[in-house]
Amino acid sequence: MSEETPRKEYLDATYDMFLGSIMGEKSEYDRFLEWVHDVEDDDAFPFETCRVGAQRPQVSMRRTSGELLDVINMSSYNYLGFGYHPDVIEAAKEALDLYGLGAASSPVHSGGFEVHRKLERTLVDFMGLDGRSASVFSSGYGVNTGVISALMRRRHHIVLDRAAHMSILEGAQLAGSKLHYFEHNDVDQLREILKEIQSKKKRRVLVCTEGVFSADGDFGNLRGIVEAAKEYDAMTLVDEAHSFLVAGENGRGVAEAHGVLEDVDLYVTTFSKALGGVGGAVIASEEMARYINWYAKCRMFSCAIDPAVTAGVTKALELGGSSIGDERRKRVKSNAMKLREMLASDVDLGVSESWIVTVNYGDEERTIPLLDALQRKGLDASVLQFPAVPVGESRIRLFVTSEHTDDQLRKAADIIIAAANEIGFSTRSS
Ligand SMILES: Cc1ncc(COP(=O)(O)O)c(C=O)c1O
Repeated sequence: MSEETPRKEYLDATYDMFLGSIMGEKSEYDRFLEWVHDVEDDDAFPFETCRVGAQRPQVSMRRTSGELLDVINMSSYNYLGFGYHPDVIEAAKEALDLYGLGAASSPVHSGGFEVHRKLERTLVDFMGLDGRSASVFSSGYGVNTGVISALMRRRHHIVLDRAAHMSILEGAQLAGSKLHYFEHNDVDQLREILKEIQSKKKRRVLVCTEGVFSADGDFGNLRGIVEAAKEYDAMTLVDEAHSFLVAGENGRGVAEAHGVLEDVDLYVTTFSKALGGVGGAVIASEEMARYINWYAKCRMFSCAIDPAVTAGVTKALELGGSSIGDERRKRVKSNAMKLREMLASDVDLGVSESWIVTVNYGDEERTIPLLDALQRKGLDASVLQFPAVPVGESRIRLFVTSEHTDDQLRKAADIIIAAANEIGFSTRSS
């Protein structure tokens, strides 16, 4: 942001505002709106933008000010580009013609369509998990909240990786079970906790973790975690939202790459990432999936996922299981590696090792000027700051896809490096 920026008070409000209502000053609501209006007055508000087309590697984007910007898109989860693949769109259009716009009922009443059954079968086939079933939800968030709160009760124990997604935490809170946390990926600490629980009265225990952690872009230590859980007779829930269709030789996730797929009790995926749609599913034993279908409240008491999206997601899954999927999986990984190499000597890449490339910029006061500058230079990225990550550990997340070209990767890296120099988080200058 330029020197002449007229008002800067909003910058230090970016994390302080969350404490407003606790301090007994203005309500959080008032402070939030004031903050938004101040940033908007400076024409610097970089959030809540609108795409003017599909989530392709290069997009036109309208900011809330009305301004249209042409940017390299590294802020969508469309990792394999299936969200706009012509076969996927065609399948969705056919279903739209056949079934109409929405499911118009809960899946346990009249909201089930044949496309839903086909998606469930395709998911289980894709995973190569004979004898299991899929329970499909209208959101990935709902899978975690619905499944965990359906299976776990007050006297049970839920053990979470400290970096687990909000939907897992909220599911655990809804369940009302006793919560335990282990430090991120720390299997020794997990074992200690499980041992302690086991020494008390025997209760149901669920260990929850993820394939790829979206805030850090690193992999879950699934081999160690699943083995430890088995040792102590605990169930496992593994959320592969960001790794399904991408990680593992056949796209079956980090659990496949770590050789523990068969041992995962509740395999969670969303359709909003590599499948390019919306919704989610849990793959579990037939009995467990049947139970979840009836006892997960956000599935039972909510409309089924719409038929057109269901058909599109099913087609994306079929493509993902074909040679097209193999090629795109290879390409997204090599693209991420190239981008990391282009950035490594100039910025702090944290611990990211996947297709989510993180760039740490530290101070949350930099968030607005940074994202504003990136967009104006031609790159849309995702930023994370407090309360999503600890204070002082703000970061840019670059979601790399198989469809980004070498030229786009190079330009994106140049933009990040230029912004790092201007805003002061280049590791070369420190
Ligand atoms: C790990 C994880 N689980 C679940 C979700 C929720 O998925 P959805 O956006 O498809 O509801 C997300 C969202 O980004 C996520 O990162």
